[in-house]
Amino acid sequence: MSENTFNFKGYDLPERLVNLTGGGPDSFDAISTAHIADLRRYLGIKSDSRLLEIGCGIGRDAIPLTEIITEGRYDGVDIIGDSIAWLSANLTPRHPNFNFHHYNVADQLHNPTGTEDMRSFKMPLEDNSVDGVFAWSVFTHMLSDYITYYLGEFQRVLKPGGRAFLTCFLYNDAVLAKARETNLTPFDLRFEHPWGEGCLINDPQHPLGAVAYNEERLKALVGASGLTLERIALGSWSGYWPYPEGGQDALIISKA
Ligand SMILES: C[S@@+](CC[C@H](N)C(=O)[O-])C[C@H]1O[C@@H](n2cnc3c(N)ncnc32)[C@H](O)[C@@H]1O
Repeated sequence: MSENTFNFKGYDLPERLVNLTGGGPDSFDAISTAHIADLRRYLGIKSDSRLLEIGCGIGRDAIPLTEIITEGRYDGVDIIGDSIAWLSANLTPRHPNFNFHHYNVADQLHNPTGTEDMRSFKMPLEDNSVDGVFAWSVFTHMLSDYITYYLGEFQRVLKPGGRAFLTCFLYNDAVLAKARETNLTPFDLRFEHPWGEGCLINDPQHPLGAVAYNEERLKALVGASGLTLERIALGSWSGYWPYPEGGQDALIISKA
């Protein structure tokens, strides 16, 4: 039986995989456009940039990036095997400078049958080879040992002067109080459950459904990796910050 697809910039994306991105076909195009504007703003992407995306999903960013990264290279990593297989079969043949890698890591939400430990992987990228790393809605589902693993790999693969843009949920008491009052997202983000140092989860039944960190903890994780936290772009999800720069918060990190 053929499956339902959604046409996005000439690609017939399986809806089943689109629905694993945290939004469906209705919002796919608008979110993609906003992501590319942010990548230009925070990473300064150019036609010859070498980029690494963690949590590439079904190519919401990779597809429009094929029109921009014409001389450089893009590598995308995800734990959803079907999305990586689909992108490798449908996008890489048209754009051989776009490559996709599957990490078969167990994840209650995105890859329940995964068998491997993230920390056993070494990214298929050379040291000091990447201009920019980005991850949308990935650290928002991640506990600190995996964040530490990824930051270590970013430190290794980024070129000196390279940057990372990583969205997250950042909390303090005022943010939590406001988020519980406003409930602006469809995910009822209350973050009432401590889950280790400087970390709160939203739902103990699904610990990776949404994970938040305080600033001190995030600074410590970044500092331990040897990377530099340039700044935090504050998001609108809680309704607390008066001039938010995006929906989620984001870390802008650089390698000296
Ligand atoms: C909310 S979705 C966002 C997908 C994509 N960034 C987008 O905007 O369409 C989060 C993605 O992160 C992926 N992911 C979760 N844990 C991961 C991990 N440890 N390593 C790589 N990707 C991961 C999920 O499989 C999922 O595709």
